[in-house]
Amino acid sequence: MTTPETQADISAEIDKIKADAEGLAKEGKPSRQPLLDYPPYRSSALRHPTKDPRHADPETIELWSPCFGHSDVNPLEADLTIGVDSSWNTQFTGEPIGERITVSGRVLDGEGRPVRNQLVEIWQANSAGRYIHKHEQHPAPLDPNFTGVGRCLTDDEGRYRFQTIKPGPYPWGNHLNAWRPAHIHFSLFGRAFTQRLITQMYFPGDPLFALDPIYQSITDQKARDALVATYDHDLSVPEYSMGYNWDIVLTGPSRTWTEPEENDK
Ligand SMILES: [Fe+2]
Repeated sequence: MTTPETQADISAEIDKIKADAEGLAKEGKPSRQPLLDYPPYRSSALRHPTKDPRHADPETIELWSPCFGHSDVNPLEADLTIGVDSSWNTQFTGEPIGERITVSGRVLDGEGRPVRNQLVEIWQANSAGRYIHKHEQHPAPLDPNFTGVGRCLTDDEGRYRFQTIKPGPYPWGNHLNAWRPAHIHFSLFGRAFTQRLITQMYFPGDPLFALDPIYQSITDQKARDALVATYDHDLSVPEYSMGYNWDIVLTGPSRTWTEPEENDK
């Protein structure tokens, strides 16, 4: 049996790639950041795209793509603490455990204009860091009153707003004692399935940032910071929830980093 790699092994690889990227930047040479095949994030070796992009007819793709239900988005689906689906069915019988939070922000284009009427979907672990998934078996409790999925449409200001529970950090199998910083996964659907963007929002001051190869795969600190929400006291609701603001910029130099599509190079 091989000895599991330690955080020190992973951190040394992270530092080396970061130093290489900074060296190229100093010389004025371009380098793609993050790398699609980022060795410290072990499974990216198998997941990253290795073929050139294939062009396909967008309408044909639409015929075979997943769909997200036939009914309109129910405004109550933005409240993950009540568990109402688009058919107004309530799944929970009580309150979820954890720190109640409001997460809101604006979806903007590169010129700062609001992107209206966009489907924003989120998914996340519960406050104990556990997802409801058959491959997720670490010994943290499931919460019968929390499924961790929600969605809403942006308004005329491009704003989305979710009521949820602060997710916990969770262990993963990248290396010995690997833990993900607390995060919420975001999907922006766009106007067609081929435009869908996916990324993760983090919480300020997380002690795991320095150790996490997914967060660290982005070597530019400004781009990393764009993935971290800001505590916003105006969003906090008295006697109810803490508020976090996180804007998503789709294009331009301040663009929020999103996960590469399978066909991206
Ligand atoms: Fe996650």
